[in-house]
Amino acid sequence: MVKVITYGTFDVLHYGHIRLLERVKELGDYLIVGVTSDDYDKTRGKINNQQSLMERIAAVEATGIADKVIVEEYEGQKIADIRKYHVDIFAVGSDWTGYFDYLKEYCKVIYLPRTVGISSSEIRHSQRSLSLGLTGESNFLNKVATECRVVNGINLKGICAQDTELLSYEIRDLPVVTKNFNELLSYVDAVYIRSQPAVHYEQIKAALKAGKHVLCEAPRTLSVSQWDELAALAEENNAVLMDAIKTAYATAYERLLLLLKAGKIGDIISVDATCTSLAHSLGSGEKKYEWDNIYEWGPTALLPVLQILGTGYKEVKIVTRHADKEKKHDSFTKMEFIYPEAVASIKTGNGVKSEGELVISGTKGYLYVPAPWWKTDYFETRYENPEMNRRYFYQLDGEGIRYELVTFAKAAFSGENFYNIAPEISRVISRLMEKFVCGIDVVEI
Ligand code: CTP
Repeated sequence: MVKVITYGTFDVLHYGHIRLLERVKELGDYLIVGVTSDDYDKTRGKINNQQSLMERIAAVEATGIADKVIVEEYEGQKIADIRKYHVDIFAVGSDWTGYFDYLKEYCKVIYLPRTVGISSSEIRHSQRSLSLGLTGESNFLNKVATECRVVNGINLKGICAQDTELLSYEIRDLPVVTKNFNELLSYVDAVYIRSQPAVHYEQIKAALKAGKHVLCEAPRTLSVSQWDELAALAEENNAVLMDAIKTAYATAYERLLLLLKAGKIGDIISVDATCTSLAHSLGSGEKKYEWDNIYEWGPTALLPVLQILGTGYKEVKIVTRHADKEKKHDSFTKMEFIYPEAVASIKTGNGVKSEGELVISGTKGYLYVPAPWWKTDYFETRYENPEMNRRYFYQLDGEGIRYELVTFAKAAFSGENFYNIAPEISRVISRLMEKFVCGIDVVEI
């Protein structure tokens, strides 16, 4: 019996896939089809499959062509599969010509002509496309624009900025470049807001009233009443209103939260997060478009505290140091939280430098994320007995922004909420910003 194997994502199964499977099957008597897992696809840059692994497997099975369907989970698995199933022929489409020649050592390798004029990418794109506008002056938008390019279904349309000095040529060349936010809204389905936090409320309100979806860099608002008003408005208008904090979408960070929930370090007693930078301190050329320290770092540093220990703290103390005589801009802010059975602290600085680590202490051990923890691909669990220590590595693409955009687009298309940041967490971030702005529980040094 001649055994043949082929691999693919098989997202939104189409005529090209079916023709390939039929021709591969004809090469032998028994066909094994390897369908790529979502995690494996993510590591090879395919981040926006429309269908889940289970749906893709079901579609391949429904063709009735495959004799066996397996899941491809890691790089190098093909060799293991060929040996395990005693495969005689490996075959894929001609878009891979040459790429799998290294398998010739184990079996025959055949590249079959690809069916012209059809692909999963094209189907996904033709089915759904979200035209997106950016607003703000910060050079952070350059990263967002770059990431938009790799996210299927997002079509970057325009920018609203009072000044485009720090923005890339790619952004300046977009079809719509305006200083008028309402004009931008008239051209797009959704906006990414990275303007100064003080104008978030007005911009989000205008966008939601116009029925546009909103992805806003946290903090969403600087007051809880504004947060509540906007949440209600989003619901009324059936629009997505999502906070952007890229770390929430970094794979290592997502996995770390799950490990903690599974009790890997026991009960959690303390969460300590530090985020600092010297790059955007007062006096550096770009400062006029950057955010104050507390806005820039506060939401990111608060994220693990609120996601791990929850929003039910009993007490918070805020200590801040201003960078200017007018006391308008903070250069360093520390917050200390007391929970019924735990404590937490965040330390943030723009113009103050410290070790940017995240340490989570538990009754059995601790979890350590080295600097810069907010864009990490790695963490460790450590114990009294060092033999039990474990290291975890995960690929990080686009600092998490890419996955954040995929989540946003999915929510806009399906109306379902898949966000990594729960509404109550976003709301508490706004409440803490309000305390800071109003000087409640704040000590100045
Ligand atoms: N294939 C083909 N003809 C097409 C599309 C795909 O023969 N028009 C083959 C590929 O060469 C591969 C298999 O089908 O051997 C699975 O391909 P996959 O990457 O899942 O499909 P694509 O449509 O190429 O997906 P994408 O657009 O996401 O790259």
